[in-house]
Amino acid sequence: MKIGILGSGLMGGKLGTLFARAGHDVTFSYARSDAKLKRLARQAGAKARAGTPAEAAKNADAVLLAVHWSRVADVLKQAGDLTAKIVITCSLPMNDDDSELVVGRTSSGAEELAKLLPKSPVVSAFGTVPSEVLFSVFEARRRKTRPSLVYCGDDAGAKRRVAGLIRDLGFEPVDAGPLRMARNAEPFTLLIAQLAYETKGGPELAYRFERFR
Ligand SMILES: NC(=O)c1ccc[n+]([C@@H]2O[C@H](COP(=O)([O-])OP(=O)(O)OC[C@H]3O[C@@H](n4cnc5c(N)ncnc54)[C@H](OP(=O)(O)O)[C@@H]3O)[C@@H](O)[C@H]2O)c1
Repeated sequence: MKIGILGSGLMGGKLGTLFARAGHDVTFSYARSDAKLKRLARQAGAKARAGTPAEAAKNADAVLLAVHWSRVADVLKQAGDLTAKIVITCSLPMNDDDSELVVGRTSSGAEELAKLLPKSPVVSAFGTVPSEVLFSVFEARRRKTRPSLVYCGDDAGAKRRVAGLIRDLGFEPVDAGPLRMARNAEPFTLLIAQLAYETKGGPELAYRFERFR
């Protein structure tokens, strides 16, 4: 797939690098320095380049939105027309000091984003794990047992393609249903963050759902 990265920080930088290593065409955009975007592209290999948000979005099949909630309007404005492009969001609707969700229970960041982008299928994915675990999960992708990764959205075709990306990165995709399930997935991430950053063992944490029959 051709994937535009909108926000090339901890999440966008790592996810973009791994998408490129998995064989996708990736354009990194939206950081405070062009040198950083170029360095990320160089390190991600031949499938990656650096560009503006508009360049990242232009020929993309999908864009990954990976910015702080306060930057969403700005990056979308810079990206321009996203009609019919899959919008994958890992962004959480956090307040300025990242201590609380500013949207919840009756809506979610993903649903608010979908309201801003009525012509784009929005899929919520990748936002339920810490960035620190992404490379390790990718390296372990040939193991029989994979960690889970929940995703949700309202467009079946877009969800199929995002499930493929989730698999490419070494996770087992778990379809959580419609986009409104992001109301549950987003606060779940705060639990994951508590375990990752506030308990012993470190932030290289993923999760796995198992069914016992
Ligand atoms: N980090 C995690 O483990 C994690 C896990 C789950 C979900 N999330 C969510 O994912 C989203 C991204 O998180 P993150 O940790 O990747 O954030 P981050 O590291 O701060 O990355 C945000 C990106 O936006 C860029 N940016 C910020 N202000 C800008 C401006 N004025 N102009 C241009 N670029 C600007 C940053 O530039 P610079 O590169 O120059 O800083 C950076 O590339 C957030 O919504 C977060 O809640 C994060």
